[in-house]
Amino acid sequence: MKVFISKRIPETGIKMLEEAGLELIFPEKENLSYEDWLHYCQNTDAILSVGGAFNYDKSFFDACPNVKAIALYSVGFDHVDVKEAVKRNIPVGNTPDVLSRATSDVAFLLMQSVARRASYNFQKVKNDDWGAFDPLHALGQELYGKTLGIFGLGRIGFEMAEKSKKAFGMNIIYHNRHQNPEAEKQLEAAYVSFEDLIKNSDVLSVHANFTPEQKELFNNSVFEKMKPNAIFINTARGGFHNQKDLCQALVDRKIWGAGLDVTNPEPMAADDPILELSSVCVLPHIGSATVEARNGMARIAAENIIAFSKNEKMPHCANPEVYSHHSS
Ligand code: DGY
Repeated sequence: MKVFISKRIPETGIKMLEEAGLELIFPEKENLSYEDWLHYCQNTDAILSVGGAFNYDKSFFDACPNVKAIALYSVGFDHVDVKEAVKRNIPVGNTPDVLSRATSDVAFLLMQSVARRASYNFQKVKNDDWGAFDPLHALGQELYGKTLGIFGLGRIGFEMAEKSKKAFGMNIIYHNRHQNPEAEKQLEAAYVSFEDLIKNSDVLSVHANFTPEQKELFNNSVFEKMKPNAIFINTARGGFHNQKDLCQALVDRKIWGAGLDVTNPEPMAADDPILELSSVCVLPHIGSATVEARNGMARIAAENIIAFSKNEKMPHCANPEVYSHHSS
């Protein structure tokens, strides 16, 4: 069975695939054009797909009829038309859990960086602008006892809430498609409506799976209802927020700060005015970028491909409905 691996992943995953006797195809160059990528996909049985540069949509599936399985090297699968994959009996694997700690660490890091204006102050040092002690300049805010609102309390949101509660005694409120009894029990998290979430959060952290219906859900009409001291954190997908509205809300002091590990668009322009603001911290989508998380993702993606090659169910599948059509 031929497996196209769209970018080099940690050796642990490659070794597993080699030991399983699979024929591995790597691209000859980095940063493939859409046409080159399509060419590789047309000549493979399964894809181990790294990064979200190209979409797996109807036109992709029509153009690549040989593709029978996709194992994503990510937990998010917003670049895959899962319904279309189900219609064609194509399992789509993903990599949950192994990156929950690392990604929630980045949300926690951003929350503190923004609260203490770390990026801005770091830039000052780099620009030889240390300045004299000033009792009024660049003051941050403390997080102790404040309210953390989680939008999408799944595994990553849970970890973020738990760290924030332990470190700062934060009160946790959340909004989700479904209530999360474990979080309610362990973290005393309170389920609230979306309106109450945005009105009552001192820090609002986005952790939901992105769907097209939620495109730019966090826009001016939301920011203007938030608290003036609120910090907006997004480590999920840039598509959740309207970045111009976010910038304007910060300039107009409708909210206080923002920490982004995902941007809209992504990558964002280096001259985006939001980068000039003193209570903003932006990272280039590094949520899962630890040795531990990336090794775990490589292992799970390889397990998904190997299971498929043996006609078994992928252990981590974003569209398990496909298996109701299969005998295995
Ligand atoms: C994920 O796993 O979804 C991360 O955002 C990396 O793409």
